[in-house]
Amino acid sequence: MTKIISFISRKGGSGKTTNAINLATSLHDMKKKVLLVETDPNYTLISSRKIDIFKNKLNEKKLFPIIASTDDEVATELEKLAPTGAYDYILVDSAGKTTDQGIKELCLVSNMVIITTSLTQNDLLVAYQTVKDLKPAEKLNSKLKLYLLPNRIHSHTRIKTIKDALSNLNVEMFENFVPQKKIYTIPSTYKSERKYRPIANMIIKEL
Ligand SMILES: Nc1ncnc2c1ncn2[C@@H]1O[C@H](COP(=O)(O)OP(=O)(O)O)[C@@H](O)[C@H]1O
Ligand SMILES: [Mg+2]
Repeated sequence: MTKIISFISRKGGSGKTTNAINLATSLHDMKKKVLLVETDPNYTLISSRKIDIFKNKLNEKKLFPIIASTDDEVATELEKLAPTGAYDYILVDSAGKTTDQGIKELCLVSNMVIITTSLTQNDLLVAYQTVKDLKPAEKLNSKLKLYLLPNRIHSHTRIKTIKDALSNLNVEMFENFVPQKKIYTIPSTYKSERKYRPIANMIIKEL
């Protein structure tokens, strides 16, 4: 059964794109059939993929596909794509204004929604609003799992500090976090980052 994992947050800059592409390349490396859907109108990943193919003379057929959609249309498209069984995982990197109807519908077709956040005051506030907006979807979609993924965490930060910072957000949190690291600043669209593998495993274990 195809599992749909969507990265959503109310505001840009929290790490949706970084984690979506790292999860996609990791799963592809694990021999899973992956489709990555990008709805951000900047289409960063689709452009990066084109550059990667050109620079490294890659055979596109050997890579997992990255396709474009919009927040408005993605849920309807997924409802058609998922039942074909062509993919093990469909990942959605959303532009994500959580108040949009399209994003609400995306939550209704997803198996997991990941809300990325750093521990800055601003990101925590945005994460709080995002959770508040998306939480009602859990009642409408019984298979939906809503998770916080701490991202851009300084390596010396203790787990307890992260848990305390996120404790009043009223949502499940992953046990592990994504550190602030240079390797994550310009992610590859075809090569997986070895250090991301434990994070990828942690995510799919919950599905
Ligand atoms: N774990 C991380 N370590 C270092 N830089 C990161 C990390 N996560 C995100 N970034 C950087 O922060 C910026 C915003 O991240 P991005 O994934 O594009 O956020 P979003 O998709 O939510 O707008 C990007 O420049 C990205 O390279
Ligand atoms: Mg993005």
